[in-house]
Amino acid sequence: MKSLNIGIIGFGTVGCGVFETLKSFNEITVKKIAVKNINKKRNIENFDNSLLTDNPYEIVNNPDIDVIVEVAGGINPIFDVLKTAINNGKHIVTANKELLAKKGSELFSLAKEKNTVILYEAAVAGGIPIIMPIKTILCANKITKIAAILNGTTNYILTKMAEQELSYETALKQAQELGYAETDPTGDVEGFDASYKISILSTISFNKRIDINKIYREGITKITPQDIKSAKELGYKIKLIAMGRVLDDGKIDVRVHPMLVAKKHLLAKVNNATNSIMLSGYPVGDLVFTGAGAGAEPTSSSVVGDLLVLASELEITNSPLPQSICTHNETAEQIDIGDTYNDYYISITTSNNPGTIGIIGTICGKNNINISTIMQKGINKDNTAEIVVLTETSKESDVQNALKELIQSESIKNINNLLRVMN
Ligand code: HSE
Repeated sequence: MKSLNIGIIGFGTVGCGVFETLKSFNEITVKKIAVKNINKKRNIENFDNSLLTDNPYEIVNNPDIDVIVEVAGGINPIFDVLKTAINNGKHIVTANKELLAKKGSELFSLAKEKNTVILYEAAVAGGIPIIMPIKTILCANKITKIAAILNGTTNYILTKMAEQELSYETALKQAQELGYAETDPTGDVEGFDASYKISILSTISFNKRIDINKIYREGITKITPQDIKSAKELGYKIKLIAMGRVLDDGKIDVRVHPMLVAKKHLLAKVNNATNSIMLSGYPVGDLVFTGAGAGAEPTSSSVVGDLLVLASELEITNSPLPQSICTHNETAEQIDIGDTYNDYYISITTSNNPGTIGIIGTICGKNNINISTIMQKGINKDNTAEIVVLTETSKESDVQNALKELIQSESIKNINNLLRVMN
C-alpha cells in the first residue's frame, strides 16, 4: 500500500472519528486539519494543536498533501476549496452529500480532466457500504429500483411517535436532546438530506445524472399522531422513504416523501436512527443493505475505507482505477410527481351528515380513483368525523384534482393528510 499524506477539512464528529480510526493505519499520515475555530478544546488524547489551521487553502495548496478528506459539509466555501484541490492534482474523499448532489457534475468533470478521483462512500448512509458495491461488484446489473430509509433523524422521530404515541414536536425535541437532530432540523425533517442521498444513489445506479431540483420532496412535519394511529390500525407504519425507479419508457422517477409502509415490508422493520437501502437489479434480484447511517465510528469506517482503497490503487498505478472515475454524462429524464402512479392514504375530517361517504366515493370515482378501504370510527364530540380512505393505484394528478373537488364540498371540513402507500 502506498503511504499517503492527507489533509482533513472539518473536525466535528465525523472528522474526529476519522482521526481516531486512522491511528491504526501507519500508511496514512494526517498532515494538517482545517477547522473554523483553532482555539476550541478538542476531546482527543495527546492532540497536537499544531496540526490545526483555520485556512483550508493552506491544505489544498500544500504540495506535500496527496489526498483531501472533506467532512465539513455545505457548498460555500467548500466547493471552491475542493476545486482548488483538484486543480492541484489532489484526490478527494468526501462525506458531503449536498455538494455532490448540487455540484457533482462540475466536480467530477474537473476530476476527470485532472486525472484525480473523488470517493464518497460516507456521503450516503454513513457506515453502510453502498457506493463502492454499486460501482464495482454490482456493475454487471441493470438496477431499476431503489427504496430506502436514508435519514436517521426522521426515522428516529417517526419511530418514537409510533412507539410512545408522541407528537411530532415532542419527538423532535427528544431527538435534539439526544444529539440526533440539529438545532435547526430543517435539512433532515424536510427531506433535503435524504433527497441529496437518493440523487447520488440514483445517478450511480441508473447511470444517468439526476437533477436535484427535479426531485419531488416532502418532509415529515405534517405527520400527526392520528396518521400514525390510523396507519397502525390499517396494518402500516409511516416512514420517510427515498425512492428512485426506472420506468418502462426509460424515464426516471426520483422522490422523497413519507409513506405508509406495510408492516410485513422489510423497510417497516427498520427503526430508530438505522438506515436501510433496498435495491432491485438484473440479474442479482433484490438486495438489502442495513446499518448505521450516521455517527463518528460508522462514518469513519467509510471514509477510512475509501482512503485505504485509494492507497492500494496508487501503490500499483498513478492512474486511478476506472471504477473510481465518474462516467455519468447522460442526463436523466425525470418525471413530474403529477405523472406518477401510487396507492394513497387520504385522511379527511367531515361533518356528520348523511351521504358524506357517498360524496367522497362519487368524487373519487369521477377522478378515476378506486377506493380499496374506507374507515370511520364513530363521531367526534364536535359532531365531525375522521374518515380515512385507502385507494388502489391511481395517478397523482387525478388524486390532486379529487382533493380540490372534495374541499369544495360543504360536508368536507378538511383534508388532513395525503400520503402514498407502499405494500
Ligand atoms: N443527518 C443525517 C441523518 C446524517 O439524520 O441521517 C448525515 O447525513
